[in-house]
Amino acid sequence: MTDTRSAWAEVAATTVPTLADLFVAEPDRLTRLTVEEGGILFDFSKTHLSKALVERFVALSEASGLAAKRDALFAGEAVNVTEGRAAEHSAERGQGAPESVARAAQLHARMRGMIDAIEAELFGPVRHILHVGIGGSALGPDLLMDALGRDADRYDVAVVSNVDGAALDEVFRRFDPQATLLVVASKTFTTTETMLNARSVLSWMEEENVEDPYSRVIALTAAPDKAVEWGVDETRILPFSESVGGRYSLWSSIGFPAALGLGWDAFERLLEGAAAMDRHFRLAPPERNAPLLAAFADQYYSLVRGAETRATFAYDERLRLLPSYLQQLEMESNGKSVKADGSPVDQPTAAITWGGVGTDAQHAVFQLLHQGTRLVPVEFVAAIEPDHPLDEAHHRTLLINCFAQGAALMAGRANDADPARAYPGDRPSSTILLDRVDPARLGALLAFYEHRTFANAVLLGINPFDQFGVELGKEIAKSIESEGTANFDPSTRALIARALG
Ligand code: F6P
Repeated sequence: MTDTRSAWAEVAATTVPTLADLFVAEPDRLTRLTVEEGGILFDFSKTHLSKALVERFVALSEASGLAAKRDALFAGEAVNVTEGRAAEHSAERGQGAPESVARAAQLHARMRGMIDAIEAELFGPVRHILHVGIGGSALGPDLLMDALGRDADRYDVAVVSNVDGAALDEVFRRFDPQATLLVVASKTFTTTETMLNARSVLSWMEEENVEDPYSRVIALTAAPDKAVEWGVDETRILPFSESVGGRYSLWSSIGFPAALGLGWDAFERLLEGAAAMDRHFRLAPPERNAPLLAAFADQYYSLVRGAETRATFAYDERLRLLPSYLQQLEMESNGKSVKADGSPVDQPTAAITWGGVGTDAQHAVFQLLHQGTRLVPVEFVAAIEPDHPLDEAHHRTLLINCFAQGAALMAGRANDADPARAYPGDRPSSTILLDRVDPARLGALLAFYEHRTFANAVLLGINPFDQFGVELGKEIAKSIESEGTANFDPSTRALIARALG
């Protein structure tokens, strides 16, 4: 077997024709590069993944030990080497080490019991759910509720993450404190923003004469002791495993507001959809494996073509929060400068992930995509079925625009007479087309992204499951609070003096 260095060199040395030429040279391209799984069609044919390139990436993944690393991930081995623990998000959907799957099943039974108790009004009347958390403890539930909960009339769910009081204040204005349940979501139960927000919710309840506000708190955490110390009754804690990473945690009790707001059946469909993608990632051959093909394209554009960013555009209002969710998943996982063994990486790691919503983005940022000097691989995400009662012209226009953008990026248009009106073309995109936006398909889509992130990490040799990069800023904020600014640079001191006195 070749080593990774030579396998990378082979990838880099592969001559790849233009997209237009590829479609001519490879008549089976569309079938070969279109994968269907879990009600989602992944079309990678408008990327530069030629047959030869895919073969070389398959060789690279073999040299990188991808199969063994993937097995280790699903077996619950300590793949998060810097923190000495497993990464068991798949066990939450039944795909993992038997003990972890059993533990997840227990948690889910407990979540169901809690939902029954809330519905039976054992917590008093509940109409509003105020979920307080940040990062991985907020982005997933927020995305799920925004995508799937638009018609849900079971509860009014608000997810508040920002420590800026304006965020909570907006919710206080519309929620009835007597009918509000506070859900505190924090893996560590120490995150400054979340703890401050949670305290403010309790104060609001007290001021509004809610009897025993603590009895209206549920904690979602991997640190149950800390939640008890903070004042949450043990019986109202839904503890998840330490080995489920924050940005991979919506399948655990962090998904509780979605399970409550959408109903347990919907949450189960979500888990099943993700499990189907887990099986696909584990079992599909590399050249038909959606997360792997996506990672091959990611690496090709990053390493060989020098693309610094990658953009995802959701051509579906229900998926408008997907780009923010992906930013944490991909950049917090793979924005690293050292390999899993501590040695420095010698190639670019995670692309800067950004994006927006179509068609809005067409009228704002697509100019750069079509004519700018930077290469930005684009990903379009759309759904065949709309979810609104308006004239079908809306959905038709939405989808036609989505497909037209991919076609235009690829085809381009020459204009020798007027270069300002020329489009270089040969710009890559992939399209992810869901049959419809429902819990199962959303589960499969998010699991696809998780595995693509993992596959990218394996090809780069990095550990996607730690996030030490976020610690320094947090520490400095704490030290400013406790020790003042004397030890800081003149700019920081002046800013603090000006704003905070
Ligand atoms: O600061 C980053 C981070 O640690 C994320 O990894 C995590 O999702 C988020 O903060 C929230 O952490 P917690 O769930 O422990 O409050």
